[in-house]
Amino acid sequence: MNDYIVELKNIQKKFEDVLILNDVSLGIKECETVSICGESGSGKTTLINIMGLLELPTHGTILWEGQRTITYGVEKISQLRAKIFGYIFQRCNLIPELNVIENILFPKRITSKISTADIKFAKRLLQRVQLNGFEERNVLTLSGGESQRIAVVRAMINHPRIVIADEPTGSLDEKSAIMTMDMIINLCREYGSSLLLITHNQLFAKKMQTSYILDSSELGSVLIKMNAKNSAFDIEKTKIEKCDKVATRSKISLPSSKIGTT
Ligand SMILES: Nc1ncnc2c1ncn2[C@@H]1O[C@H](COP(=O)(O)OP(=O)(O)OP(=O)(O)O)[C@@H](O)[C@H]1O
Ligand SMILES: [Mg+2]
Repeated sequence: MNDYIVELKNIQKKFEDVLILNDVSLGIKECETVSICGESGSGKTTLINIMGLLELPTHGTILWEGQRTITYGVEKISQLRAKIFGYIFQRCNLIPELNVIENILFPKRITSKISTADIKFAKRLLQRVQLNGFEERNVLTLSGGESQRIAVVRAMINHPRIVIADEPTGSLDEKSAIMTMDMIINLCREYGSSLLLITHNQLFAKKMQTSYILDSSELGSVLIKMNAKNSAFDIEKTKIEKCDKVATRSKISLPSSKIGTT
């Protein structure tokens, strides 16, 4: 029995002829916390877009709750995505035409009608991020830190199985970043969501149970698992071994341009 909520197997992604991801495999389990670091352009956002089927891989398999997603239609994907994933982005992506509570409840609209219980839950979450009383506020009047806390609350509204946070504190000052990160971790723990954190912040990355580096090269990025015992030497050694493996495989069979073998 597959105990991953979401699993990516041997994902390869090309844009035009440029190989971005090469043979990346990753699984996220119930209540697991995972971080991915990697230099700008290594393909971190591309990887999470593929995980949520916002982008199709060139090759590879995506399993949601153990099921291959290849046969799913657009409507089913959209419904399941809203139930499985809660997204937090670096730049919040709040909808300016909607006030705070409408923004928070927006992902709920995809899965069901909004109930009184949903509104109560949204208000409870607002209290948890110390923004009670902000329900009717115009989102354009919020500070960066407040906007990001609203984005955190919005990600939790559907009780997602996995919260995906793509550099959620990248545009915040250090104090707000620490506060926001703690809120994300605590809310995930409290509501039983797994957390996939994309970050350039090593301290935040190390707070997760499992840490990876998406290591880029001309042959596309490979995912390297880190653990507390990895010394700089061990990391370097793993990188070299991985790159050798990729180089050998690439020589044998060059990837085709066929899209969507999920
Ligand atoms: N739709 C697209 N068409 C062509 N190239 C793309 C597309 N989307 C992403 N790329 C390229 O793929 C590479 C990886 O992009 P991605 O956004 O995944 O990087 P990232 O690791 O998230 O970087 P950052 O840390 O700066 O956010 C980049 O070189 C980017 O220009
Ligand atoms: Mg990115």
